[in-house]
Amino acid sequence: MKALILSGGIGSRLWPITYTKAKQLIPVANRPILFYAIESIVKAGIKEIGIVVGVTRAQIMQEVGDGSRWGVKITYIYQQKPEGLAHAVKISKHFLQDDSFLMFLGDNIIRDDLSRFIQEYYNKKVNALVVLDKVKNPEEYGVAVLENGNIVELVEKPKHFISDMAIVGLYIFDQNIFSAIENIKPSWRNELEITDAIQEMIKSGFKVGYGQLEHWWKDTGSSQDMLEANQRLLDDINGCIKGMIDSQSIVQGKVIIEKDTSVINSVIRGPAIIGEKSNIKNAYIGPYTSVSSGCEVENTSIEYSIVMNNCKIKNMEKRISDSLIGNDVEILSCNQIPTTCSFIVGDRSKIYSI
Ligand code: DAU
Repeated sequence: MKALILSGGIGSRLWPITYTKAKQLIPVANRPILFYAIESIVKAGIKEIGIVVGVTRAQIMQEVGDGSRWGVKITYIYQQKPEGLAHAVKISKHFLQDDSFLMFLGDNIIRDDLSRFIQEYYNKKVNALVVLDKVKNPEEYGVAVLENGNIVELVEKPKHFISDMAIVGLYIFDQNIFSAIENIKPSWRNELEITDAIQEMIKSGFKVGYGQLEHWWKDTGSSQDMLEANQRLLDDINGCIKGMIDSQSIVQGKVIIEKDTSVINSVIRGPAIIGEKSNIKNAYIGPYTSVSSGCEVENTSIEYSIVMNNCKIKNMEKRISDSLIGNDVEILSCNQIPTTCSFIVGDRSKIYSI
């Protein structure tokens, strides 16, 4: 069985971060989201992975490479425009050929063992398997209506409540998905929806089964989802100190400090992770915070946040919380009274004082 990861799209809900960065490469617990997908697929024993890429293809290809670091072969499939998940499958036919395949949405983090779903797909002898999980906000997902243990209907982003069983970004299909895609039309959002293609399979009499998640998952569509995924993943880390911590500093709970990083006169309260070559001075790094590599944090408190590479954050009077801070960002205050603010901020940036 091959795997197909969908990593095209424009990530509009994560503007401005996604103006310059593929959403699937945003780091959670200091690792790109996409790496978690690749690793679960590799763990399930799959050796050939196709990745659908769009405008951000150069970055993704550079960060992910040819798959050799995971001992698998990765092939890139270019989708010119994000015309929908079913469109992404359609253009991948030459890569997938006639074998069954597992499809993983590259912005999802799924903690279940995927081999369980592959087994269920073969044991139940179905033509497609979708994975479901109960959610509180079904209008934000594709949902499945179940009757007597069977899927009777699938609806993408339902405007009125019909089910709270959301379709998770993990599917297994046989080659009958391709003829179903040929028979569907673009939706109201002008996309060829995979949900409609699966509904079409049911209509044509093919067997569509479902599996249910046992662990947490996250569709990291918004900044809040990213921060929540970061929290969940940081909960699972094992502390490890490779950098230098001076005697004035306090490190509590599960904390990772990578090599060539120094912590001076600071408090680091885990779970937290600080990447390589960063300097933390007179600072408080609170729980559920990831600071990537090459950062300088001085006279500042940060918690519940993701700080990407090479940021300088200094002399902030107020604590920074619930923030997603991109690469090479400078947030500096000179602590003079009366204070003025000076911004060089790109389109769609958000600055809140709470
Ligand atoms: O996360 C689960 C949900 O994912 C399901 O419940 C929905 O049924 C399913 O349609 C999908 O909904 P989203 O609106 O969240 O999909 P999104 O546009 O975020 O795309 C998911 C991934 O697929 C993301 O990594 C981008 C990629 N993609 C998306 C489109 C539209 C492509 O590679 N090509 C595309 O054309």
